[in-house]
Amino acid sequence: MTMLTILFPTVIAATIAILVKSSQSGFGIFAPPEIPGSRDVFPSAKVVNVTGASGPESVAFDPSGEGPYVGVSDGRVLKWRGESLGWIDFAHTSTNREKCVRPFAPELEHVCGRPLGLRFDKKTGDLYIADAYFGLLVVGPAGGLAKPLVTEADGVPFRFTNDLDIDEEEDVIYFTDTSTRFQRRQFLAAVLNFDKTGRLMKYDRSSKKVTVLLQGIAFANGVALSKDRSFVLVAETTTCKILRLWLSGPNAGTQDVFAELPGFPDNVRKNSNGEFWVALHSKKGLFAKLSLTQPWFRDLVLRLPISGPRLHSVFIGGRPHATAMKLSESGEVLEVLEDKEGKRLRFISEVEEKDGKLWIGSVLMPFLGVYDL
Ligand SMILES: *[C@@H]1O[C@H](CO)[C@@H](O)[C@H](O)[C@H]1NC(C)=O
Repeated sequence: MTMLTILFPTVIAATIAILVKSSQSGFGIFAPPEIPGSRDVFPSAKVVNVTGASGPESVAFDPSGEGPYVGVSDGRVLKWRGESLGWIDFAHTSTNREKCVRPFAPELEHVCGRPLGLRFDKKTGDLYIADAYFGLLVVGPAGGLAKPLVTEADGVPFRFTNDLDIDEEEDVIYFTDTSTRFQRRQFLAAVLNFDKTGRLMKYDRSSKKVTVLLQGIAFANGVALSKDRSFVLVAETTTCKILRLWLSGPNAGTQDVFAELPGFPDNVRKNSNGEFWVALHSKKGLFAKLSLTQPWFRDLVLRLPISGPRLHSVFIGGRPHATAMKLSESGEVLEVLEDKEGKRLRFISEVEEKDGKLWIGSVLMPFLGVYDL
């Protein structure tokens, strides 16, 4: 090896390290990009603190309109009973909760569970839970310990079960497993390594059979059925796309790209008009773009001597922000609402529209956002 071939990667790594440092302030070429037509309205959102907990990723209301219920980082599902009564414990997914006392302890997630996707069955009031570590589970309207329904498909265990939606007419549940290689706490590694082992499954409640519908998804995330149940959407986080799988009609069984987004989609929720709210974990800035398109850049990034949280900060453009997009039933962008500088909301994971309000979850923050439309 010549001196040059040894020096070259070192010089590049040093250059990247300097750029990384300068991007920490959230300005310059690595800053989160602007989205045309976006409205910076979320700084005026209200906040509901998740007292003693953190990371309310998914937000669900029960059939009588009570809640919301949220799954938090310590493995519990909590229920909000309004300002005066606050939060109560509703359900949990782990039988072994002695150590699950800290609001945020990623190293214990495999013990405590991490409920990500929540959906109520409107007829029975049962709550279905996609838990990142324990697969698909269900708990009755009285709450308590959830019962596992399925933990593998085609002989391959789930490793990062993420979200679901229920087709009550067909009696099936659509759900995602993000990766067969990476767990939830390694989410950034799953993205940077361009892992493509995500799957979309169908669970038939009467036969208890699981069918793999799509595989090879690059970080399979949020799931949402269309209003007429003719298709199901799956967020493909790493490629910044929403995929559509047709369930009925002339294209049944085929997939296409429903939408391409300027950032990394998390959960997808439809409103009563059949439109979809997509929460972006973050927008895709230059650093993320380079990491995902230039293998040499990615390899250097993975070798940088910086901590996971710092790498995450650089990846999202150095400045936490919140971006929600409303898509029509055919995938056009109808609205983009943001907190561009993360003054109030950051790292949002789900947007649930109910009675003229948006309830906004976050996988990392210790509160929900509530925004009046
Ligand atoms: C939520 O928590 C923050 C930080 O602890 C605090 O400043 C704020 O007043 C709380 N908000 C409400 C509505 O309780």
